[in-house]
Amino acid sequence: MSEPDIIYNFFQQNRSHFPYLEKDSSGQKRIYLNSGAGSLMVDSCYQAIEMALRNLNSMPGMVSNEEIQTAELHQEARKAVADFIGANSPEEISFHFSTTAALFNLAFALRKLFQPGKNCLVTDLDHLANISPWETIAQQQGAEIRRIHLNDESQILIDKLIEKVDRQTVLVALTGASNVIGIINPLTDLIQEIKQKSDALVVIDAVHLAPHSPIDVREIGGDFLTFSGYKLFGPMIGILYARKESQPLSFPYRVETNRPQAPFCWEQGMLPNLAIAGLKGALDYLEDLGNKLISPRDKATTLSRTRVFRLAMEGVKNYEQKLSLYFMKNLERIDRQKIKFYGLVAGNKIVSKVPTFAFEIFDYSAAETKRLFWEKGKILIADGNHYSAFVTRHLKKEALNRLSLAHYDNLEAIDRFFDTLENLIYKK
Ligand SMILES: Cc1ncc(COP(=O)(O)O)c(C=O)c1O
Repeated sequence: MSEPDIIYNFFQQNRSHFPYLEKDSSGQKRIYLNSGAGSLMVDSCYQAIEMALRNLNSMPGMVSNEEIQTAELHQEARKAVADFIGANSPEEISFHFSTTAALFNLAFALRKLFQPGKNCLVTDLDHLANISPWETIAQQQGAEIRRIHLNDESQILIDKLIEKVDRQTVLVALTGASNVIGIINPLTDLIQEIKQKSDALVVIDAVHLAPHSPIDVREIGGDFLTFSGYKLFGPMIGILYARKESQPLSFPYRVETNRPQAPFCWEQGMLPNLAIAGLKGALDYLEDLGNKLISPRDKATTLSRTRVFRLAMEGVKNYEQKLSLYFMKNLERIDRQKIKFYGLVAGNKIVSKVPTFAFEIFDYSAAETKRLFWEKGKILIADGNHYSAFVTRHLKKEALNRLSLAHYDNLEAIDRFFDTLENLIYKK
């Protein structure tokens, strides 16, 4: 078997870890091409939540069995997240209701940096979760907001961004990948340039990057990074990474008797134990995936968990690139008079994109297209601005359809998408 076939077959077998991949909760057959709105949960996530329901306490502690297990879960989950993103320590990881909540929390914590005369940069490629918190705090404190617009391919104008960074810039908010058009930002290079020109903190929204690519915060070099469990095959939970060296500048909301040290100072009230257990279950799955992808050459050596996670996500990225290339190839058979795809990059640049595709069928509204895909093909896609309203405004659209693939999808699902698409545009 050739190398590509081995990888393809590996990921086909792996689909069995997702019990609701082919059938919805009522047992109806369907194709799920909506992972950008929330990925499917993996079996180990359900199992971990069930275990947690039976065995955990609300309060962590050091006396009863349940208290101890709860405290251990918190620590193990923080460690697993730290290893997943290459952080130095579990103390850099805190848990939140969602990424949006984590970023509003962070904005409040950094409020003292936002003063008249200071400025903050946000980009039009970002989800509003990484724009509105900074706009709100900048307006309240009298700091300037500088917007970075997009070019014709909907990539951020990098030269403009670097030009707008100066000694008065206190923060730059960047996305890892767009949740509408899938474009990936060249974070490492960008952040290096930003840091050469200023002491600005860099905040990265990695929600749409985390399910598709390895992330290494030491390599990337930002100060804060967020992502969401429900996009990473787990439950609803927001995760915030706060680099130890960057934390002294922050003053988070704090209940007086809460422990002042990180990560506890970032968290208000009791933690969502079931979601933390589910997140740990999802990360266990990714670790297992990485272990299965270890090459025979590396088998004899003991790899760090960070390395194993990296193998898993490199495998996912490679496989998803194949899906993207197949998708692009199928596009050639579609009449462009009837449909437009946005944010596409040529096949040879596919590495700078996750498998998320925005489109519009001219004959229908985005809401109608979503409904028709469901009625005619039992395919679930998305419609709307996807909370990335500056992207849709840049494209001069109120709403766009989006199909978003994940590593549990396959070529057959893409075929079904194009069959249904052809049916809609040619047999209206
Ligand atoms: C790129 C991106 N950032 C942030 C968010 C917000 O995440 P949450 O729903 O956890 O607040 C989303 C959710 O769709 C997203 O896609």
